[in-house]
Amino acid sequence: MNKYEEKINKFVASLEVFYLKLHALHWNVTGKNFKAIHEYVESLYDDATETLDSAAEQLKIQGLYPVASYAESAKLSIISEWTEKRDLTQKEVVESLISDYQALSTLAKEIRDEAVAADDFFYSNFYEDVIADYAKVLWFLKAMDR
Ligand SMILES: [Fe+2]
Repeated sequence: MNKYEEKINKFVASLEVFYLKLHALHWNVTGKNFKAIHEYVESLYDDATETLDSAAEQLKIQGLYPVASYAESAKLSIISEWTEKRDLTQKEVVESLISDYQALSTLAKEIRDEAVAADDFFYSNFYEDVIADYAKVLWFLKAMDR
């Protein structure tokens, strides 16, 4: 596994942790916009599992093994596990999501840049799409945070 393939596994691990965290935000959000945020976060975890699956399968195509254990993904993830048992305001949910999507986007950019430098379009095209998807998510979230 080369340098950016190790980062890809970090990305996979982060999405595994983030998938569960997104559920916690989906369940615990409260407030007058409950239905809209609850449903939007559901669309985010559906998208996250698709991105996770594709990123993991790209490693398999290259004969590598994506992280598939919660213990290992918790260690590798750049997203912290959600451990709080409490209701959340819309602002808390949106601001937490902005911070997480910015971190995931930064990691995806690092992978894209290293893949481009290695002329490895197998990965660089995929991460280019991930960066574009996350830019749209961040636009939505920042509009909700006004
Ligand atoms: Fe649900």
